[in-house]
Amino acid sequence: MKILRTPADLKAALQAHSGTIGFVPTMGALHSGHRALIAAARQENDIVVVSIFVNPTQFLAGEDLDAYPRRIEADEKICELSGVDYLFYPEVSQMYGRDEVTVCAPDVRGYILEGTSRPGHFSGVLTVVNKLLNIVAPDRAYFGKKDAQQLMLIETMVNNLFMRVEIVPCETVRDDDGLALSSRNAYLSPEEREEALKIPRALKRATKLVMQGVTRSDRIVAEMTAVLEPLEVEYAVVVDRRFAPAEHVEIGNTIILVEALVGTTRLLDNVWI
Ligand code: PAF
Repeated sequence: MKILRTPADLKAALQAHSGTIGFVPTMGALHSGHRALIAAARQENDIVVVSIFVNPTQFLAGEDLDAYPRRIEADEKICELSGVDYLFYPEVSQMYGRDEVTVCAPDVRGYILEGTSRPGHFSGVLTVVNKLLNIVAPDRAYFGKKDAQQLMLIETMVNNLFMRVEIVPCETVRDDDGLALSSRNAYLSPEEREEALKIPRALKRATKLVMQGVTRSDRIVAEMTAVLEPLEVEYAVVVDRRFAPAEHVEIGNTIILVEALVGTTRLLDNVWI
């Protein structure tokens, strides 16, 4: 595995290959969820590129960018063992210039749900993903379904900009107790982790209701909210796959999403119906 620190070096290295390129963009602190994305990329492509870049533009003022977990040595090992060919690990100055003009603003769907409490977050995500896709020029790029809103906005950007890459959505990976894997889980105390399990339990309850034939979103949301108590729920909603609010669950076109604060940690999770 080669570790490259500049866009120019990565581009030059990739130009020497003729096969397909699979790309997994990350912010590091890699866990089994990332490993699953890398494994899918490894299986479907000749070359696998992983980026580790804690992107400052997706952190809002007041959000602690410096406190974001950084574990580059462990991450390097995970990438090496997962069969990654190139690890792209740039400095901020390599990704953003002083005369920055790039703006990739999402439509209104970037300012609902997670975007309500983090206005501008998705603009930062789209900006950096656009830059990374331009550098790597992959055939396929892999994103987790756990960040469903991010995934939908990236798919929309790729379509709108006529980008050549195929976006591959990958299933959420969970710990044995059901908690969706997230770099943010590292912030949870043992007691908070126990509380956090209310999130997958609420989604399980929602899935069970749907399996029993309940389709009314208000009923599903009410039952999820009861399971989530006393967590501070940012949102518990039923939307369609384009993120429009849905009054009824429609099999094959629905996502049920939850975001809740556990202590000071914001956790999100969802189920695709
Ligand atoms: O999901 C993430 O880790 C980040 O938002 C991404 C897509 C790597 C962009 O910084």
